[in-house]
Amino acid sequence: MRPASLVLFLTFTLLAFNAGHILPGVAEKQKVWARAGGSAVLPCHLSPRKAAKTWKQLPDKTSVQWKRHGGSAYQEPHMVLEVGYSGLRKTALPMRPRVSVQDPASRSGNFSLRIDPVRSEDAGLYEARVTYNTEVQSCQVELGVTTVTLSPPGPVVENEPLLLSCNSSHRARLVETCWFHNGRLVPTSRNFFPLHGALSILRPAMRDAGSWRCQLRYSDNEIISATYNLQILGFDGPTNPVVYAASGSAVDLPCTLSYFPSALGINVVTAHWSRTVGGHWQDWGISQNLSSRSFHLHLPAVGPGDAGQYRCTISVSSKTIIRDVTLTVVTVTPSIQGPVSEGSHLLLICSLIHPQGYESFQWKHLGSASTSSKLSVATSRNLEGHRHQMGPTLEIPQVSQKDTGTWECSVYGPEGRLGATEYGLQITGSQVSSPPTIFSGQVTFGLTLTLFFLLMVCVLALALQKRARYSAFPALEGMIAVTVPRKKEMEENQKKIQQTEC
Ligand SMILES: *[C@@H]1O[C@H](CO)[C@@H](O)[C@H](O)[C@H]1NC(C)=O
Ligand SMILES: *[C@@H]1O[C@H](CO)[C@@H](O)[C@H](O)[C@H]1NC(C)=O
Ligand SMILES: *[C@@H]1O[C@H](CO)[C@@H](O)[C@H](O)[C@H]1NC(C)=O
Repeated sequence: MRPASLVLFLTFTLLAFNAGHILPGVAEKQKVWARAGGSAVLPCHLSPRKAAKTWKQLPDKTSVQWKRHGGSAYQEPHMVLEVGYSGLRKTALPMRPRVSVQDPASRSGNFSLRIDPVRSEDAGLYEARVTYNTEVQSCQVELGVTTVTLSPPGPVVENEPLLLSCNSSHRARLVETCWFHNGRLVPTSRNFFPLHGALSILRPAMRDAGSWRCQLRYSDNEIISATYNLQILGFDGPTNPVVYAASGSAVDLPCTLSYFPSALGINVVTAHWSRTVGGHWQDWGISQNLSSRSFHLHLPAVGPGDAGQYRCTISVSSKTIIRDVTLTVVTVTPSIQGPVSEGSHLLLICSLIHPQGYESFQWKHLGSASTSSKLSVATSRNLEGHRHQMGPTLEIPQVSQKDTGTWECSVYGPEGRLGATEYGLQITGSQVSSPPTIFSGQVTFGLTLTLFFLLMVCVLALALQKRARYSAFPALEGMIAVTVPRKKEMEENQKKIQQTEC
């Protein structure tokens, strides 16, 4: 053979070997890393050329046997999975439900072993023997397993100390462990401090959820990484929510979990509300709904006495998370109680029960809520020049007709509008406004009284008439004659009242 052809031959052999990943006779050892709980593929491929040839010529004369060389030194190599000529599969007991090869492996030349899920004890050396035609080829794969463990185990809840530990099956001395959260190196702090290959998180918060990666460096300079997707069960929304509610309105105090409990495999969730009364926590109510992540407390009509501190306590498999919610009630106190007469001096004081201290106020005239056509004209005029006033107190030096209607007191905080309440101003003693309900009530009362009086008169008249038949008392007849015209007069009065009413 000439040197040139020898080089060509060697190159060809090398190419064929690279394509097939199988060294005829001698096994090429590969290393695969997998995380405990994840899946692993131990590669073993025949070159497409060989696979095609095998499938064309002897499709049913291919078999594969995967063996494991034992996790510890004493263990004999033992069978993991075998696919015979007939396609019959045999799987060894310990790994039976977790191992598979592609079906049919001979057609694609892919004899890779898939392990799902991987366990830390699966680490070790694996060997595949592929028998096709009359040839035998082997693949050797070293499986390394990394583990990330959480302690305490189970769902991770907000604010409960947590230890993330990282380990691998690599047999060398661990030199250094670095931690990365969402791709960024985590520096040591009061909240995160490393503890010999582990990371302690003192108070896990919602922002600590996400991808955590540990990077282990060993004395032989081997660097191994493992990632873990940390889910933290906590609450949605701000940490200490403050709810502003107008006195008399309905309110829902929020308590919403960051995940549906079922998504984290939690079956028992109890939510329990309490509130501070005289410095002590008093039970308020329990709500339980597993198909929901919201456990809000509904108050149908808040009063000034409802303002204060509330607490939502959620128990999740022996762990509890709490969220404090503050209820602040917004009220308006007028300086004049009852109906306000035109021209009077009126103060409207907007106040907060259980304030935070940073609130500011704004008064606004929204106009009249009356449906009367005359008034809606007045309303639109009012809206054109509607007045704003800062501060909790609105002063109207001389109440006039244009001030009737709804006044709104809005409460603002650093982040914007927090809540509002309304006050309806009604003015008495004016010509334009429709008669107040009290007035029509007086009319009805007057009419009833008149009718009752008439009835009494009739009864009296009948009684007197009867008596007059037995004894002669002409004077009494005269009395009846006197009362009858009064009755007519009253009926006329009544008609007059009804006319003014319409
Ligand atoms: C080979 O088979 C394994 C498992 O049976 C599979 O995960 C892998 O994707 C396959 N590889 C190719 C290149 O098809
Ligand atoms: C880490 O893994 C090795 C090998 O699997 C094991 O011997 C060792 O005890 C583990 N260490 C910890 C802290 O889990
Ligand atoms: C539980 O929550 C779901 C979803 O929010 C809701 O449809 C259902 O009515 C709730 N059940 C009870 C008993 O509150």
